[in-house]
Amino acid sequence: MMANLVTSLCCVVLAAVVVAYAQRRIQLVARNQYERMGSDVTMQCGSLESGTSVSWKVNGTDVQAKHQLEGPVLILNQVDLSHNGLYSCFQNPHGERRDTIYLHVGVPPREPLITCRSNTYPKGFYCNWHLQHSTYIPTSFEVDIQHNQRSLAVEKDAVHKNRCHVRFPEVFSSYPYVVNVTVINALGKAFNTYVFEESNIVKPDPPERVTATPIRFNPRRLEVSWQSPATWPEIDSFPLKYFLRYRPLIREQWQHVSTTLF
Ligand SMILES: *[C@@H]1O[C@H](CO)[C@@H](O)[C@H](O)[C@H]1NC(C)=O
Ligand SMILES: *[C@@H]1O[C@H](CO)[C@@H](O)[C@H](O)[C@H]1NC(C)=O
Repeated sequence: MMANLVTSLCCVVLAAVVVAYAQRRIQLVARNQYERMGSDVTMQCGSLESGTSVSWKVNGTDVQAKHQLEGPVLILNQVDLSHNGLYSCFQNPHGERRDTIYLHVGVPPREPLITCRSNTYPKGFYCNWHLQHSTYIPTSFEVDIQHNQRSLAVEKDAVHKNRCHVRFPEVFSSYPYVVNVTVINALGKAFNTYVFEESNIVKPDPPERVTATPIRFNPRRLEVSWQSPATWPEIDSFPLKYFLRYRPLIREQWQHVSTTLF
């Protein structure tokens, strides 16, 4: 009987602790706040009322940067990357933590640069995009590729984050392709378009296993061999032309030879 009562009491106490802990966690999970570089940033300590007195810390130490404190609100002036950090506020006078904010300073994205290339003609092509300037905060991209007023299926590259692959819907098409890449982060978005015709982006990969070997008893000649790029899918229907250049080490000028491979 006694043992049972003790166990029940323990359970009640434990339950109370769990509830209290859960309530604390809701307030303590850090939330993200994204702000524009150069702006004045306002951080509100939880939902505390305007008269409440709080203390702020960043990364566990006092806030050194230029700031104002208005009750539960911390105002940082003209933020830059050095203001990034984990900000916590504590209610006075007992010092309970009331909020935790991860401040991320960045800039809105500018238009991405887009390039497209087909090294697997006539199967498909790929497009790359990149930003010329860092935004300092996480950024994502949306890609839309249109041909003859139809959106094409876009496949993300497994390795390159900013690359996608597309199949040509038809060959020898006279309709242009329109690539629209939109870049998005917490501070804004921007897009750019790139318009091209099929024939303008065809660029095979280089030849493979290029070798040059001396020919026995013929010191004035070399045997040069190579293979067509493995990525080029239909070497018979779409043969490649090769340009070969060479020069003796003692000469400045290159000699040129042009050839087709069969
Ligand atoms: C807080 O710590 C992060 C990570 O170590 C650091 O990059 C940042 O500059 C620190 N912020 C401040 C205001 O000290
Ligand atoms: C590009 O896509 C974005 C949405 O992702 C859209 O707002 C914008 O109008 C598009 N631009 C063009 C030129 O189609």
